[in-house]
Amino acid sequence: MTLPGRGGRSRRCPCFGGHPRCQRWMLYQLSKAGKLCVPAMNVNDSVTKQKFDNLYCCRESILDGLKRTTDVMFGGKQVVVCGYGEVGKGCCAALKALGAIVYVTEIDPICALQACMDGFRVVKLSEVIRQVDVVITCTGNKNVVTREHLDRMKNSCIVCNMGHSNTEIDVTSLRTPELTWERVRSQVDHVIWPDGKRVVLLAEGRLLNLSCSTVPTFVLSITATTQALALIELYNAPEGRYKQDVYLLPKKMDEYVASLHLPSFDAHLTELTDDQAKYLGLNKNGPFKPNYYRSVLAGCCWGHRFPLGAL
Ligand SMILES: NC(=O)c1ccc[n+]([C@@H]2O[C@H](COP(=O)([O-])OP(=O)(O)OC[C@H]3O[C@@H](n4cnc5c(N)ncnc54)[C@H](O)[C@@H]3O)[C@@H](O)[C@H]2O)c1
Repeated sequence: MTLPGRGGRSRRCPCFGGHPRCQRWMLYQLSKAGKLCVPAMNVNDSVTKQKFDNLYCCRESILDGLKRTTDVMFGGKQVVVCGYGEVGKGCCAALKALGAIVYVTEIDPICALQACMDGFRVVKLSEVIRQVDVVITCTGNKNVVTREHLDRMKNSCIVCNMGHSNTEIDVTSLRTPELTWERVRSQVDHVIWPDGKRVVLLAEGRLLNLSCSTVPTFVLSITATTQALALIELYNAPEGRYKQDVYLLPKKMDEYVASLHLPSFDAHLTELTDDQAKYLGLNKNGPFKPNYYRSVLAGCCWGHRFPLGAL
């Protein structure tokens, strides 16, 4: 994105949000190689973006997407969610609340332990693939659901992706002569095996919520505010504050994004007393947390916050 700079200069301010795993990776690689020619702000990893776009938005839109496409009833259904990051946590919380039996797959022991503590069985996909009614991928990875998994699924199993692009489910492997594809409604395909078994594939493996449901304007507002503030910060920063590197949005701005959205809940913030501010070593106006601080994700789902260092 190009902005007119102060004093007539032109300044490039790359800034990204949405589903930018590749762009983020690319920018960090460029920075590492010393080839980044402008400062960049990694908006994707700011807390407000992560929480709202990934966790809270997906917590709602997973149900919306599944309902609109399949009208499935969730109570008692066995669901496996691949990946217990922000998106996975949101999906699991929503499905659990509706009475689904939720399994989680993970590669990271910390996220796996969080899933255990939140009451989910952590399994390998191959252990449950024959019995589950719904498979949801949220890993940001590729080929998490393979043709072998798809071959072993039971009749009417629903398969969908909430994670990265269209890489998580190996959809290409289903384009073989022995399998028949039947479009039953928009964004819903039945893939039919020679013995009559059907797998219900949603949005051809693309992001379910972006393809089949809506994104609440509240979430868009938070993401857009974060991006706008990142651009303003890069634009207004005095010469030398940012070098040709990738930065996280300053914590104070993250807090500002959140504070701008509090009035819609009629939420009233407690103000630190001078004595308390001194005791905690904080400025009364923030930032209230160090830049490295990340809310514990699962706790956040249920409205609690713990400092990372307390884990
Ligand atoms: N659908 C949406 O609206 C939406 C919103 C935000 C982000 N996303 C995308 O969703 C993906 C996940 O986002 P996130 O914030 O949860 O990321 P994250 O990194 O917090 O979580 C991904 C999790 O998947 C795990 N994982 C990786 N490979 C795995 C595998 N083979 N099997 C099991 N688990 C595996 C990782 O250990 C990690 O815990 C990203 O690609 C992101 O771009 C989608």
